[in-house]
Amino acid sequence: MNSIKDQADLNKKKVLLRLDLNVPLNNGSISDETRINKIIPIINFLIKEQSKIIIISHVGRPKGKVETDLSLKPICENVEKKINKKIKLVKEDIFKLKKEDLFQNPNEQIVFLENIRFYKEEERNDSNFAQHLAKLGDLYVNDAFSCSHRAHASVSKITEFLPSFAGLQLETEINALKKVTSEIKKPITCIIGGSKISTKIGIIKNLISKFDNIVIVGGMANNIIKYKGNQIGKSIKEENCDAMIKEIFETSKNHSCTITLPEDVIIGKNLDDEPQIKELNNIKDDDFILDIGPKTLNKIKHIIENSETVLWNGPAGYFENPNFANGSYEIAKVITNKNNSIYSVVGGGDTIALINKINVTENFNFVSTAGGAFLEYLEGKELPGIKALR
Ligand code: 3PG
Repeated sequence: MNSIKDQADLNKKKVLLRLDLNVPLNNGSISDETRINKIIPIINFLIKEQSKIIIISHVGRPKGKVETDLSLKPICENVEKKINKKIKLVKEDIFKLKKEDLFQNPNEQIVFLENIRFYKEEERNDSNFAQHLAKLGDLYVNDAFSCSHRAHASVSKITEFLPSFAGLQLETEINALKKVTSEIKKPITCIIGGSKISTKIGIIKNLISKFDNIVIVGGMANNIIKYKGNQIGKSIKEENCDAMIKEIFETSKNHSCTITLPEDVIIGKNLDDEPQIKELNNIKDDDFILDIGPKTLNKIKHIIENSETVLWNGPAGYFENPNFANGSYEIAKVITNKNNSIYSVVGGGDTIALINKINVTENFNFVSTAGGAFLEYLEGKELPGIKALR
């Protein structure tokens, strides 16, 4: 993998810079800026080298359609303020855009392309689309470790058409995760939560052989609670997961990994509701599971306290409403209270947002910007975006 640090001649070169600026947006306002803060060094590095920078990123999952709520405009403005430089947001169709259309003003140094997932070709890893993108620049830099598990056009295919390099943050994350996985101390616990069920449920099976405990919380747990014969009301779930869940339990029989699931939950009738504790056999058709219950929390605390290493990705509930944030906050506190005795790694956009909210981020040993990519890395898989750089 070639590092951008070792590329001698960047002066006036047009650099296509893939970033993961998939930050939590709430009516156009950014609720956590960590992913933006982490990529300021690569932008400053390229500015210093006198490169022309073309930023590519996605936010959300617009599935190939233009969704004005998922414009990169607020994110572009945020970066503009942080680096104190004007940045142009380019909304033109990438298929029509030509290299000479960009940087017509010689003083312009940075442009942002609009949300790359507005193009259906992006997620299809479309070759023609990647080629169009590649024609806009002279070289390509991936500084988006957190979406390198996606075989998408601007992460993977594009590397077939341009000299391609690893960015500064991507290298930092890979080096840190390499160290974590090679020097890991047992017992190891992996806590998996959040709402990206489709991304993560298939990964759990492959993590079983590597961990002493896997704790499944948040939206991730709902399908399993249902599989075990309980109702989950209106809670988020993914279709067609039963075969995968069956495999998780079959695989766990052959390993000494304990899988822990919620035993009780906190529900609401809607996302703004008051919290109500419920046993699993008492969940009603109009309930939303929005946090873990006190019994579950105590069990998880005990597991954490008896671990040497804890890796955590994904909140335990809908922490955006403080009524349903207790489970996530308590998990964060118990991990970081034991900071001297537990090696702790946390990853993922939402999980970072929640630890920032309660100011415990500095107490984790390593904070990865990556969620799904972090778990796939732990699985031992070579991520498509990293493979493409080799
Ligand atoms: C992430 O937030 O994990 C990355 O930006 C990837 O997003 P995705 O799960 O929508 O592909």
